[in-house]
Amino acid sequence: MEKLQAVRGMHDTLPGETPKWQLLEDALQVVLHSYCYREIRLPIIEKTELFARSIGAGTDIVNKEMYTFQDRNDELLTLRPEGTAGCVRALLQHGLIYAGPQRVWYQGPMFRHERPQQGRQRQFYQVGAEAFGMEGAEIDAELILVCARIWGALGIEGITLQLNSLGSHRARHSYRKLLVDYLSAHRGELDEDSIRRLETNPLRILDSKNPALQGLIDGAPSLLDSIDAESAEHFAALQDLLDANGVEYKINPRLVRGLDYYNRTVFEWTTDKLGAQGAICAGGRYDDLVTQIGGRATPAAGFAMGLERILALLECSGAEAVAGAPRFYQVMVGADAVNSGFRLAERLRDDIPGLPLLLHCGGGGFKSQFKKADKSGAEYALILGADEVASNTVLIKPLRTDAEQYKVTQEQLAAEIKRLL
Ligand code: HAM
Repeated sequence: MEKLQAVRGMHDTLPGETPKWQLLEDALQVVLHSYCYREIRLPIIEKTELFARSIGAGTDIVNKEMYTFQDRNDELLTLRPEGTAGCVRALLQHGLIYAGPQRVWYQGPMFRHERPQQGRQRQFYQVGAEAFGMEGAEIDAELILVCARIWGALGIEGITLQLNSLGSHRARHSYRKLLVDYLSAHRGELDEDSIRRLETNPLRILDSKNPALQGLIDGAPSLLDSIDAESAEHFAALQDLLDANGVEYKINPRLVRGLDYYNRTVFEWTTDKLGAQGAICAGGRYDDLVTQIGGRATPAAGFAMGLERILALLECSGAEAVAGAPRFYQVMVGADAVNSGFRLAERLRDDIPGLPLLLHCGGGGFKSQFKKADKSGAEYALILGADEVASNTVLIKPLRTDAEQYKVTQEQLAAEIKRLL
């Protein structure tokens, strides 16, 4: 019989890998909480209409990439391709959106039926932050500073912040006309994808990676030249705040993003270490989304980061991956040692919360248990045999150095472990 495999583009995270995920998630949470963002937990499935109305009917995500299905009541549902739309829906539904400024964050799997490749999965994980009710550029700056602090906490260096302003929706609409006129005059030079986008989403042509189009794109009218005066002011205020806080950025007038809900600020943090999938985090302002979903106009901005890409970047930057190995491996030979060893280990866990102690299970003599202790990656073996039980002691054997093994009493053990930690 054919062996069943995970769905293409969807990956298992095995126990050997979860510690680095947990470490990453913890680091992100510490920073988000320090800026007073509060966690919101959202359903993975939403009504399809939510995404069509927010991300935009002309976008690749809605057109080609959503996992959409009819449930048993014939309701059209979609596995969320991103978190912003669901977050707005939830805050609106529960009346939080008008309850003064809100700062929330979320995490979890997102689903897009894209062509899987290095750094691009069909199920991938995001951590996102969204802020509501704040119009000024301060919140745009704060969101970017949160990201910068996250990179600092993770030891990520050498990434670029790309920044642009899309202006108001009205300004973008006028620009769209200008761009379509320009590109239509050069229709013969466009590739198949761009010809399709000329009708559906012409701004995305600016984002094309096709080298043959770069000359044409360079000659296109600049979006920044046609943004409205208020948006230009907002953008200048954001840049002042970033400058004052030492955040470096590159203005990229071609940065348009693949989701339609943005206006004014858009940004992307990119690396050149991950090949084509270099965006590790992206976001911007979306002042009209609440209205599109059925609420009253509410300014909003946010970002989301791709956890797989951040982990890949950490790995290729040589940042130390957490092995998730135990620090202590308790060797117990004989029934009496198992009995007293279990009680001892429970007392140690009471005394030292979070102690990475692995108990040998499954019997065997000293030699075979030492082998397993060694393989576990632990730094010390805590040894209990008949002698130790009789004398109420434990033998501590360093496994990674040539240091001598030594005995301590069971009462002294917790203090000794704390010293070793
Ligand atoms: P996005 O640019 O579509 O924006 O995704 C944000 C990040 O998710 C990307 O920069 C990337 O790191 C990661 N990502 C996206 N697609 C994949 C994939 N197929 N495989 C692996 N990683 C991926 C949004 O989703 C917006 N909701 C961001 C936002 C929040 N804007 C305002 N608030």
